[in-house]
Amino acid sequence: NTAIKLLVLPGDGIGPEIMREVRHVIDWLESRRGLSFDITEDLVGGASLAEYGVPIRDEVIEKAWAADAVLFGSVGDPKWAHVGFEKRPEVAILKLRQELGLFANLRPAKVFDALVDASTLKPDVVRGLDIMIVRETVGGIYFGNPRGIETLPDGSKRGVNTEVYTTSEIERVARVAFDLARKRSNRVCSVEKCNVMESGLLWKEVVTDVHAKEFSDVELSHMLADNCAMQMVRNPRQFDVIVTGNLFGDLLSDLASMLTGSLGMLPSATLGAVRENGKFPALYEPIHGSAPDIAGQGIANPIAQILSFAMLLRYSLNKQEEANMIEQAVSNVLESGLRTADIMSEGMARVGTSVMGEAIVRELDKLQK
Ligand code: NAD
Ligand code: IPM
Ligand code: MN
Repeated sequence: NTAIKLLVLPGDGIGPEIMREVRHVIDWLESRRGLSFDITEDLVGGASLAEYGVPIRDEVIEKAWAADAVLFGSVGDPKWAHVGFEKRPEVAILKLRQELGLFANLRPAKVFDALVDASTLKPDVVRGLDIMIVRETVGGIYFGNPRGIETLPDGSKRGVNTEVYTTSEIERVARVAFDLARKRSNRVCSVEKCNVMESGLLWKEVVTDVHAKEFSDVELSHMLADNCAMQMVRNPRQFDVIVTGNLFGDLLSDLASMLTGSLGMLPSATLGAVRENGKFPALYEPIHGSAPDIAGQGIANPIAQILSFAMLLRYSLNKQEEANMIEQAVSNVLESGLRTADIMSEGMARVGTSVMGEAIVRELDKLQK
């Protein structure tokens, strides 16, 4: 029974604050569930820039490969807004995704019953909502060439980014989405803008092809990305699995977070290709960022980070029971009326990051008995 190797990368801003609460959950699993973790922690983002002059060291990428899974906080700090593009704190997460080949970013948006009133949408619109956004994360306009800012002869400038998708990049992320749908409500909606982008047209053709050849039992629909944004607000429960490219997936998942009450609620898993030994590289992180506007105040919601750890238990370690317990503990604590500021509503008890974390651990204790 060897220890589970975790690489923990808290990052910047609220990252370290919310990661502290996950460490309490990990301690609890060790003392009460007999799991054993071998944890390495390291610096990424602005924290790494300050110490090493780079947003992420090659050594950290090596450690990520060696770990059973990576738990990531968030990176980004306005302090580094002046540094060159390749040195920005955000490069840490982009490089981890790319170097480890983490192409499928699973972003579930599920509404806890207790939070139905926390959404800015009407309770009847969001109650029971359960969407899974599968966002492609190593291609598209984030990484396409040519890119850059160039100075034109007249002294003005030109900023360039290029959306590129290849058949195989689309195929592999489509397969992840169809596979997930089979374990859910068996519906996939593929989202692009085939009406204006060739990369979107290819996306639609390849998804249609993969569906016909390998997943014809799954219900497939297609939607233009602008319509999808509208439909997610109009009637979000029409969706089961959404599969889309890097940029649209980024936007639509932040949008989906507000259906659940707060950006501070949504976890994610980013998975790479399965290797010969059956293992696959994987990174787990909240979908939110370092929230510089509230960092250092002890008021950030730790739930997205804690639920990201539950996804880690589920997907990388196959610890379904423990993952279920954590999700149940979060649900019970919300039912009990505790709220961080971001999900606060009338009549509830407002608490900070650590009280929320402690309450979740106490609830785990109760579930264990
Ligand atoms: P953000 O997600 O950090 O914050 C957006 C808003 O949501 C803010 O008002 C913030 O206070 C709130 N919020 C976010 N997480 C919260 C939580 N757990 N609890 C309570 N409130 C929360 O987005 P932003 O402000 O646009 O970006 C800030 C920095 O984070 C930027 O540098 C950006 O590049 C970076 N970023 C990093 C990641 C990542 O590491 N994966 C993701 C998104 C943004
Ligand atoms: C996210 C973030 C990142 C992204 C940034 C920080 C690079 O917004 O994980 O959603 O755009 O992918
Ligand atoms: Mn984002």
